[in-house]
Amino acid sequence: MTSVEEAVLRLVRRRGTVSAEEVIDLALYSDDGFYGSGSGAGRRGDFLTSPEVGPLFGAVVARAVDHWWRALDEPDPFVVVEGGAGAGVLARAVLAAGPSCSPALRWVCVERSAALRAKAAAALPVEPAAQVLGGRSGIGPVVAVLDDLPSGPFTGVVLANELLDNLPPLITERTPDGWAEVRVGEEGGHLAEVLVPDEGVARAAALWAAGAPIGSRLPLARQAARWVERARGTLDAGWVVGIDYGAATTAELAERGFEGWLRTYRAHGRGGRWLDDLGRQDITCDVPADQLQPVTLETQAAWLTRFGIEELAAQARRTWHERAVIGDIAALQARSRVTEAAALTDESGLGAFLVLSWPSAPGGSAPPRT
Ligand SMILES: C[S@@+](CC[C@H](N)C(=O)[O-])C[C@H]1O[C@@H](n2cnc3c(N)ncnc32)[C@H](O)[C@@H]1O
Repeated sequence: MTSVEEAVLRLVRRRGTVSAEEVIDLALYSDDGFYGSGSGAGRRGDFLTSPEVGPLFGAVVARAVDHWWRALDEPDPFVVVEGGAGAGVLARAVLAAGPSCSPALRWVCVERSAALRAKAAAALPVEPAAQVLGGRSGIGPVVAVLDDLPSGPFTGVVLANELLDNLPPLITERTPDGWAEVRVGEEGGHLAEVLVPDEGVARAAALWAAGAPIGSRLPLARQAARWVERARGTLDAGWVVGIDYGAATTAELAERGFEGWLRTYRAHGRGGRWLDDLGRQDITCDVPADQLQPVTLETQAAWLTRFGIEELAAQARRTWHERAVIGDIAALQARSRVTEAAALTDESGLGAFLVLSWPSAPGGSAPPRT
Protein backbone atom coordinates (compact mmCIF):
# COMPACT_ATOMS: atom_id res chain seq x y z
CA MET A 1 0.00 0.00 0.00
CA THR A 2 1.40 3.47 -0.89
CA SER A 3 1.72 6.16 1.80
CA VAL A 4 -1.09 8.12 0.08
CA GLU A 5 -3.35 5.05 0.23
CA GLU A 6 -2.55 4.70 3.95
CA ALA A 7 -3.43 8.38 4.48
CA VAL A 8 -6.74 7.99 2.61
CA LEU A 9 -7.56 4.81 4.56
CA ARG A 10 -7.02 6.68 7.84
CA LEU A 11 -9.44 9.40 6.63
CA VAL A 12 -12.00 6.76 5.55
CA ARG A 13 -11.83 5.07 8.97
CA ARG A 14 -12.42 8.43 10.64
CA ARG A 15 -15.16 9.75 8.34
CA GLY A 16 -16.81 6.74 6.67
CA THR A 17 -16.22 7.89 3.07
CA VAL A 18 -14.02 10.48 1.33
CA SER A 19 -14.85 12.33 -1.90
CA ALA A 20 -12.98 11.47 -5.11
CA GLU A 21 -11.95 15.15 -5.27
CA GLU A 22 -10.12 14.85 -1.97
CA VAL A 23 -8.57 11.46 -2.79
CA ILE A 24 -7.27 12.69 -6.16
CA ASP A 25 -5.99 15.88 -4.52
CA LEU A 26 -3.95 13.82 -2.02
CA ALA A 27 -2.78 11.45 -4.78
CA LEU A 28 -1.46 14.33 -6.87
CA TYR A 29 -0.44 17.10 -4.48
CA SER A 30 0.43 15.75 -1.02
CA ASP A 31 4.18 15.52 -0.32
CA ASP A 32 4.15 11.85 -1.43
CA GLY A 33 1.72 12.59 -4.25
CA PHE A 34 2.53 12.37 -7.95
CA TYR A 35 3.25 16.09 -8.53
CA GLY A 36 4.03 16.78 -4.86
CA SER A 37 7.06 14.49 -5.11
CA GLY A 38 8.25 16.19 -8.33
CA SER A 39 6.97 13.89 -11.10
CA GLY A 40 5.37 15.43 -14.15
CA ALA A 41 5.70 16.23 -17.83
CA GLY A 42 8.88 15.79 -19.86
CA ARG A 43 10.93 13.35 -21.88
CA ARG A 44 12.40 12.06 -18.63
CA GLY A 45 9.02 12.46 -16.91
CA ASP A 46 5.80 10.50 -17.28
CA PHE A 47 4.06 12.11 -20.28
CA LEU A 48 4.69 14.76 -22.95
CA THR A 49 2.78 18.03 -23.09
CA SER A 50 2.92 20.55 -25.96
CA PRO A 51 5.70 22.68 -24.38
CA GLU A 52 7.67 19.47 -23.77
CA VAL A 53 7.46 18.45 -27.46
CA GLY A 54 9.99 21.21 -28.18
CA PRO A 55 10.39 25.01 -28.32
CA LEU A 56 8.02 25.55 -31.27
CA PHE A 57 4.91 25.63 -29.06
CA GLY A 58 6.47 28.42 -26.97
CA ALA A 59 7.42 30.31 -30.14
CA VAL A 60 3.76 30.30 -31.24
CA VAL A 61 2.58 31.23 -27.73
CA ALA A 62 5.03 34.18 -27.90
CA ARG A 63 3.17 35.39 -31.01
CA ALA A 64 -0.18 35.01 -29.22
CA VAL A 65 1.20 36.92 -26.23
CA ASP A 66 2.25 39.79 -28.54
CA HIS A 67 -1.19 39.77 -30.14
CA TRP A 68 -2.93 40.06 -26.75
CA TRP A 69 -0.50 42.80 -25.64
CA ARG A 70 -1.29 44.87 -28.74
CA ALA A 71 -5.02 44.24 -28.32
CA LEU A 72 -4.74 45.68 -24.79
CA ASP A 73 -2.94 48.83 -26.13
CA GLU A 74 0.56 47.69 -25.18
CA PRO A 75 0.36 48.03 -21.37
CA ASP A 76 3.56 48.14 -19.31
CA PRO A 77 3.62 46.15 -17.08
CA PHE A 78 1.99 43.43 -19.14
CA VAL A 79 1.49 40.44 -16.84
CA VAL A 80 1.25 36.86 -18.09
CA VAL A 81 0.41 34.43 -15.31
CA GLU A 82 1.06 30.83 -16.31
CA GLY A 83 -1.10 28.52 -14.18
CA GLY A 84 0.29 25.02 -13.57
CA ALA A 85 3.67 26.02 -15.00
CA GLY A 86 5.42 22.77 -14.00
CA ALA A 87 9.19 23.05 -14.40
CA GLY A 88 8.96 26.31 -16.41
CA VAL A 89 9.55 24.84 -19.88
CA LEU A 90 6.91 26.97 -21.63
CA ALA A 91 8.17 30.16 -19.95
CA ARG A 92 11.70 29.45 -21.17
CA ALA A 93 10.57 28.85 -24.75
CA VAL A 94 8.45 32.02 -24.84
CA LEU A 95 11.27 34.17 -23.48
CA ALA A 96 13.75 32.55 -25.90
CA ALA A 97 11.45 33.48 -28.81
CA GLY A 98 11.91 37.17 -27.88
CA PRO A 99 8.36 38.55 -28.21
CA SER A 100 8.00 42.28 -29.03
CA CYS A 101 6.31 42.87 -25.67
CA SER A 102 9.50 41.73 -23.83
CA PRO A 103 10.36 45.12 -22.24
CA ALA A 104 6.86 45.21 -20.69
CA LEU A 105 6.54 41.49 -20.00
CA ARG A 106 6.18 40.13 -16.47
CA TRP A 107 5.88 36.33 -16.60
CA VAL A 108 4.58 34.71 -13.42
CA CYS A 109 4.82 30.92 -13.17
CA VAL A 110 2.24 29.59 -10.72
CA GLU A 111 2.92 26.03 -9.66
CA ARG A 112 1.40 24.18 -6.71
CA SER A 113 4.15 21.54 -6.36
CA ALA A 114 7.13 22.83 -4.35
CA ALA A 115 9.40 20.28 -6.07
CA LEU A 116 8.40 21.59 -9.53
CA ARG A 117 8.65 25.24 -8.39
CA ALA A 118 12.25 24.52 -7.42
CA LYS A 119 12.91 23.10 -10.91
CA ALA A 120 11.30 26.16 -12.54
CA ALA A 121 13.32 28.54 -10.35
CA ALA A 122 16.52 26.72 -11.35
CA ALA A 123 15.65 26.98 -15.05
CA LEU A 124 14.55 30.64 -15.16
CA PRO A 125 16.05 34.01 -14.16
CA VAL A 126 13.63 34.45 -11.25
CA GLU A 127 13.16 37.77 -9.41
CA PRO A 128 11.12 38.61 -6.28
CA ALA A 129 7.36 38.64 -7.01
CA ALA A 130 6.84 42.21 -5.72
CA GLN A 131 9.34 43.51 -8.25
CA VAL A 132 7.90 41.45 -11.09
CA LEU A 133 4.27 42.44 -10.45
CA GLY A 134 4.98 46.11 -9.73
CA GLY A 135 8.05 48.24 -10.29
CA ARG A 136 9.13 50.61 -13.04
CA SER A 137 8.08 50.22 -16.65
CA GLY A 138 10.52 48.91 -19.24
CA ILE A 139 12.25 46.40 -16.93
CA GLY A 140 11.00 43.28 -18.70
CA PRO A 141 11.16 40.51 -19.36
CA VAL A 142 11.15 39.52 -15.69
CA VAL A 143 10.00 36.23 -14.18
CA ALA A 144 8.59 35.16 -10.81
CA VAL A 145 7.57 31.75 -9.48
CA LEU A 146 4.62 31.54 -7.06
CA ASP A 147 2.64 28.75 -5.39
CA ASP A 148 -0.78 30.26 -6.16
CA LEU A 149 -2.43 32.93 -8.30
CA PRO A 150 -1.30 36.46 -7.36
CA SER A 151 -4.09 38.65 -6.03
CA GLY A 152 -4.00 41.30 -8.79
CA PRO A 153 -5.59 43.30 -10.23
CA PHE A 154 -3.32 43.40 -13.26
CA THR A 155 -3.61 43.83 -16.99
CA GLY A 156 -2.67 40.81 -19.02
CA VAL A 157 -3.43 37.16 -19.54
CA VAL A 158 -3.72 34.07 -17.37
CA LEU A 159 -2.61 31.12 -19.46
CA ALA A 160 -2.83 27.47 -18.43
CA ASN A 161 -1.63 24.53 -20.50
CA GLU A 162 -2.92 21.20 -19.19
CA LEU A 163 -3.79 22.55 -15.75
CA LEU A 164 -7.59 22.23 -15.71
CA ASP A 165 -7.44 18.46 -16.36
CA ASN A 166 -5.40 18.09 -13.17
CA LEU A 167 -7.93 19.85 -10.92
CA PRO A 168 -9.76 16.93 -9.28
CA PRO A 169 -13.37 16.34 -10.39
CA LEU A 170 -16.29 15.15 -8.34
CA ILE A 171 -17.39 11.82 -9.89
CA THR A 172 -21.07 10.95 -10.32
CA GLU A 173 -22.85 7.82 -11.50
CA ARG A 174 -26.39 7.38 -12.73
CA THR A 175 -27.96 4.50 -10.77
CA PRO A 176 -31.48 3.06 -11.21
CA ASP A 177 -32.46 5.37 -8.30
CA GLY A 178 -30.92 8.55 -9.74
CA TRP A 179 -27.49 10.21 -9.74
CA ALA A 180 -25.13 9.35 -6.87
CA GLU A 181 -21.68 10.60 -5.90
CA VAL A 182 -18.83 8.11 -6.33
CA ARG A 183 -16.89 8.32 -3.06
CA VAL A 184 -14.13 6.21 -1.57
CA GLY A 185 -14.66 3.80 1.33
CA GLU A 186 -13.10 0.59 2.63
CA GLU A 187 -13.68 -3.03 1.62
CA GLY A 188 -11.63 -5.85 3.14
CA GLY A 189 -8.90 -3.45 4.29
CA HIS A 190 -8.60 -1.86 0.82
CA LEU A 191 -9.92 1.35 -0.70
CA ALA A 192 -13.06 0.86 -2.78
CA GLU A 193 -15.62 3.00 -4.58
CA VAL A 194 -18.91 3.62 -2.75
CA LEU A 195 -22.02 5.19 -4.32
CA VAL A 196 -23.64 7.80 -2.07
CA PRO A 197 -26.91 9.47 -3.15
CA ASP A 198 -26.74 13.28 -2.89
CA GLU A 199 -29.44 15.70 -4.02
CA GLY A 200 -27.10 18.58 -4.91
CA VAL A 201 -24.90 16.30 -6.96
CA ALA A 202 -27.97 14.78 -8.63
CA ARG A 203 -29.26 18.25 -9.62
CA ALA A 204 -25.87 19.25 -11.07
CA ALA A 205 -25.43 15.99 -12.99
CA ALA A 206 -28.94 16.17 -14.43
CA LEU A 207 -28.22 19.70 -15.62
CA TRP A 208 -25.28 18.59 -17.77
CA ALA A 209 -26.31 15.17 -19.05
CA ALA A 210 -30.00 14.55 -18.38
CA GLY A 211 -30.20 11.85 -21.08
CA ALA A 212 -27.24 9.76 -19.91
CA PRO A 213 -28.16 6.06 -19.53
CA ILE A 214 -28.05 4.18 -16.20
CA GLY A 215 -24.48 3.18 -15.37
CA SER A 216 -23.00 6.34 -16.98
CA ARG A 217 -20.48 8.37 -15.07
CA LEU A 218 -19.74 12.09 -15.34
CA PRO A 219 -17.20 14.50 -13.90
CA LEU A 220 -18.42 17.64 -12.15
CA ALA A 221 -15.51 20.02 -12.73
CA ARG A 222 -16.23 22.29 -9.75
CA GLN A 223 -12.58 22.93 -8.92
CA ALA A 224 -11.72 23.78 -12.54
CA ALA A 225 -14.70 26.20 -12.65
CA ARG A 226 -13.58 27.81 -9.38
CA TRP A 227 -10.00 28.17 -10.66
CA VAL A 228 -11.18 29.89 -13.85
CA GLU A 229 -13.30 32.31 -11.79
CA ARG A 230 -10.37 33.10 -9.48
CA ALA A 231 -8.09 33.62 -12.50
CA ARG A 232 -10.61 36.03 -14.06
CA GLY A 233 -10.79 37.87 -10.76
CA THR A 234 -7.05 38.66 -10.89
CA LEU A 235 -7.45 40.68 -14.11
CA ASP A 236 -8.66 44.26 -14.55
CA ALA A 237 -8.37 43.76 -18.31
CA GLY A 238 -7.35 40.82 -20.46
CA TRP A 239 -8.24 37.15 -20.80
CA VAL A 240 -7.90 33.73 -19.25
CA VAL A 241 -6.84 31.12 -21.80
CA GLY A 242 -6.84 27.40 -21.05
CA ILE A 243 -5.49 24.68 -23.33
CA ASP A 244 -6.50 21.14 -22.48
CA TYR A 245 -8.01 17.88 -23.60
CA GLY A 246 -11.72 17.48 -23.12
CA ALA A 247 -15.03 17.73 -24.90
CA ALA A 248 -17.43 20.52 -25.76
CA THR A 249 -20.17 18.89 -23.68
CA THR A 250 -20.45 16.78 -20.55
CA ALA A 251 -22.85 14.50 -22.44
CA GLU A 252 -19.99 13.62 -24.84
CA LEU A 253 -17.87 12.59 -21.87
CA ALA A 254 -20.68 10.39 -20.56
CA GLU A 255 -20.62 8.62 -23.93
CA ARG A 256 -16.82 8.35 -23.86
CA GLY A 257 -17.15 6.23 -20.70
CA PHE A 258 -15.52 6.57 -17.29
CA GLU A 259 -12.13 5.15 -18.27
CA GLY A 260 -12.24 7.33 -21.38
CA TRP A 261 -12.48 10.59 -19.41
CA LEU A 262 -10.70 9.78 -16.13
CA ARG A 263 -7.29 8.41 -17.09
CA THR A 264 -4.04 7.60 -15.35
CA TYR A 265 -0.51 7.91 -16.74
CA ARG A 266 2.95 6.88 -15.67
CA ALA A 267 6.28 6.30 -17.46
CA HIS A 268 4.91 7.47 -20.86
CA GLY A 269 2.05 4.97 -20.83
CA ARG A 270 -1.41 4.49 -19.38
CA GLY A 271 -1.43 3.65 -15.67
CA GLY A 272 -3.83 1.41 -13.75
CA ARG A 273 -7.29 2.05 -12.32
CA TRP A 274 -7.63 5.45 -10.66
CA LEU A 275 -7.64 4.02 -7.11
CA ASP A 276 -4.51 1.91 -7.79
CA ASP A 277 -1.07 3.04 -6.65
CA LEU A 278 -2.30 6.42 -5.37
CA GLY A 279 0.54 8.95 -5.58
CA ARG A 280 2.57 7.01 -8.15
CA GLN A 281 0.56 7.82 -11.27
CA ASP A 282 -1.02 10.93 -12.73
CA ILE A 283 -4.83 11.05 -12.53
CA THR A 284 -6.34 13.33 -15.13
CA CYS A 285 -9.86 14.25 -16.17
CA ASP A 286 -11.05 15.38 -19.62
CA VAL A 287 -12.33 18.94 -19.32
CA PRO A 288 -16.12 19.32 -19.83
CA ALA A 289 -16.07 22.70 -21.60
CA ASP A 290 -19.80 23.38 -21.16
CA GLN A 291 -19.41 23.38 -17.36
CA LEU A 292 -16.74 26.11 -17.63
CA GLN A 293 -18.69 28.35 -20.04
CA PRO A 294 -15.82 29.78 -22.11
CA VAL A 295 -16.55 32.58 -24.61
CA THR A 296 -14.40 30.94 -27.30
CA LEU A 297 -13.56 27.31 -27.99
CA GLU A 298 -11.39 26.02 -30.83
CA THR A 299 -8.96 23.18 -31.40
CA GLN A 300 -5.28 23.58 -30.63
CA ALA A 301 -4.55 22.91 -34.32
CA ALA A 302 -6.81 25.82 -35.38
CA TRP A 303 -5.43 28.10 -32.64
CA LEU A 304 -1.78 27.39 -33.50
CA THR A 305 -2.56 27.91 -37.19
CA ARG A 306 -4.14 31.30 -36.40
CA PHE A 307 -0.95 32.32 -34.63
CA GLY A 308 1.33 31.28 -37.48
CA ILE A 309 2.63 27.78 -36.80
CA GLU A 310 2.56 27.00 -40.53
CA GLU A 311 4.73 30.02 -41.28
CA LEU A 312 7.27 28.99 -38.61
CA ALA A 313 7.25 25.40 -39.94
CA ALA A 314 7.74 26.62 -43.53
CA GLN A 315 10.73 28.76 -42.46
CA ALA A 316 12.18 25.72 -40.68
CA ARG A 317 11.63 23.51 -43.75
CA ARG A 318 13.56 26.02 -45.90
CA THR A 319 16.42 26.13 -43.40
CA TRP A 320 16.53 22.34 -43.27
CA HIS A 321 16.70 22.05 -47.07
CA GLU A 322 19.44 24.70 -47.27
CA ARG A 323 21.53 23.28 -44.45
CA ALA A 324 20.84 19.53 -44.53
CA VAL A 325 24.14 18.89 -46.33
CA ILE A 326 26.01 20.90 -43.68
CA GLY A 327 24.18 19.02 -40.90
CA ASP A 328 24.91 21.69 -38.27
CA ILE A 329 22.87 22.54 -35.17
CA ALA A 330 20.71 25.03 -37.11
CA ALA A 331 19.85 22.29 -39.62
CA LEU A 332 18.95 19.80 -36.90
CA GLN A 333 16.87 22.37 -34.98
CA ALA A 334 15.01 23.22 -38.18
CA ARG A 335 14.27 19.56 -38.87
CA SER A 336 13.03 19.13 -35.32
CA ARG A 337 10.69 22.16 -35.72
CA VAL A 338 9.06 20.56 -38.75
CA THR A 339 8.39 17.39 -36.74
CA GLU A 340 7.15 19.44 -33.76
CA ALA A 341 4.68 21.33 -35.96
CA ALA A 342 3.20 18.04 -37.20
CA ALA A 343 2.86 16.67 -33.63
CA LEU A 344 1.33 19.87 -32.21
CA THR A 345 -1.35 20.08 -34.92
CA ASP A 346 -2.07 16.36 -35.28
CA GLU A 347 -5.87 16.15 -35.12
CA SER A 348 -5.70 12.70 -33.57
CA GLY A 349 -3.42 13.91 -30.78
CA LEU A 350 -2.33 17.29 -29.40
CA GLY A 351 -3.99 19.16 -32.27
CA ALA A 352 -7.42 18.02 -31.02
CA PHE A 353 -6.93 19.67 -27.62
CA LEU A 354 -9.33 22.52 -26.86
CA VAL A 355 -8.31 26.15 -26.44
CA LEU A 356 -10.86 27.91 -24.22
CA SER A 357 -10.97 31.59 -23.31
CA TRP A 358 -12.77 33.82 -20.85
CA PRO A 359 -12.79 37.63 -20.54
CA SER A 360 -11.57 39.33 -17.34
CA ALA A 361 -15.11 40.24 -16.28
CA PRO A 362 -18.53 38.62 -16.84
CA GLY A 363 -20.03 39.93 -20.06
CA GLY A 364 -16.58 41.04 -21.26
CA SER A 365 -15.41 40.52 -24.82
CA ALA A 366 -13.54 37.56 -26.28
CA PRO A 367 -9.87 37.99 -27.22
CA PRO A 368 -9.74 39.58 -30.69
CA ARG A 369 -8.85 37.17 -33.49
CA THR A 370 -5.71 37.53 -35.54
C1 LIG B 1 -0.07 18.30 -16.58
S1 LIG B 1 0.96 19.36 -15.70
C2 LIG B 1 1.25 20.61 -16.93
C3 LIG B 1 2.56 21.32 -16.76
C4 LIG B 1 2.86 22.35 -17.86
N1 LIG B 1 1.85 23.37 -17.94
C5 LIG B 1 3.01 21.68 -19.20
O1 LIG B 1 2.16 21.91 -20.07
O2 LIG B 1 3.99 20.94 -19.39
C6 LIG B 1 -0.12 20.22 -14.56
C7 LIG B 1 0.61 21.06 -13.57
O3 LIG B 1 -0.31 21.87 -12.86
C8 LIG B 1 0.11 21.95 -11.49
N2 LIG B 1 -1.05 22.36 -10.67
C9 LIG B 1 -2.11 21.65 -10.30
N3 LIG B 1 -2.99 22.39 -9.59
C10 LIG B 1 -2.47 23.63 -9.52
C11 LIG B 1 -2.92 24.85 -8.96
N4 LIG B 1 -4.09 24.94 -8.32
N5 LIG B 1 -2.12 25.94 -9.09
C12 LIG B 1 -0.95 25.84 -9.74
N6 LIG B 1 -0.46 24.71 -10.29
C13 LIG B 1 -1.22 23.61 -10.21
C14 LIG B 1 0.62 20.55 -11.23
O4 LIG B 1 1.42 20.47 -10.06
C15 LIG B 1 1.38 20.26 -12.52
O5 LIG B 1 2.69 20.72 -12.47
